[in-house]
Amino acid sequence: MSIPRFAVIGHPVAHSLSPRIHTAFGRQLGIALEYGTIDAAPEQFESALASFAAAGGTGANITLPHKARAASVCEHLSDRARRAGAVNTLLRTDAGWEGDNTDGVGLVRDLTQRHGLDLRGRRSLLIGAGGAAAGVAPALLDAGLADLFIVNRSRGRTDALAAALGDRARVHPHHWDDLGGLGGFDLVIHATSAAHGGAAPSLPGGLLAPRGAAVDLGYGAAATGFLDWARASGAGSAIDGLGMLVEQAAESFLRWHGARPDTAGVYAMLRERDAAPVTGD
Ligand code: ATR
Repeated sequence: MSIPRFAVIGHPVAHSLSPRIHTAFGRQLGIALEYGTIDAAPEQFESALASFAAAGGTGANITLPHKARAASVCEHLSDRARRAGAVNTLLRTDAGWEGDNTDGVGLVRDLTQRHGLDLRGRRSLLIGAGGAAAGVAPALLDAGLADLFIVNRSRGRTDALAAALGDRARVHPHHWDDLGGLGGFDLVIHATSAAHGGAAPSLPGGLLAPRGAAVDLGYGAAATGFLDWARASGAGSAIDGLGMLVEQAAESFLRWHGARPDTAGVYAMLRERDAAPVTGD
């Protein structure tokens, strides 16, 4: 039997930790697999995916900037992918690609189980309204946040995400310019890709309630600017996206292989080598 092939598709993607994570999970559970990277510019996404399928690709993770586009190539979407309007996990079936989104459940599992945060009742702010933000917003609402304010550089995407989420009682789209007047939040989640092209967006003081939690969906250098701001703002917890990365990978692994890996050892290995430390409780 040939070894099943998997890949992460993104642009850029060379830095991705997903091959190491999935290889480590496979070793842990005695499951043979190949996992590579595919760099595809936005206009090449469909052809890159088709080539991967033709070469026997079984499943793929999708990362920046293809998560919304990936949803549009699927024959079938899971409920959580449909709600997110974004796909980070593809599974090849006889009918075509099946799309799932494990980012949201991965984030919630990291925050609640690894970092011990109780998300229920939190007044929350989501900064960004692209694929990454859309991927995590439904799971955050399901985790019991009191409110989810959303701000984004371009207002159209803020409104589109809020409309897609549909929970008008709890979801509040706002202009970026409103940021200074929205008061303190118990949870602030940074989900823009700004740091990949330079620096994280500058944020006003007073955005974090005393001892509030700040979370960047990125890790390593991409998370530094926001997490520095959070610590300077008195955050009780300043958490990067490394744990979410490992948890979403575990959920994808479960989807593909039918077995859930233990994430603690892989998280510790990556934390030691690659990413800035997490502070807080
Ligand atoms: P991703 O999958 O990482 O979310 P994306 O769908 O391209 O990628 O979305 C990028 C997000 O980062 C968007 O919210 C984008 O804001 P716009 O919708 O206004 O483009 C945000 N973003 C990117 N560069 C930014 C910057 N310099 N300042 C603020 N927001 C930025």
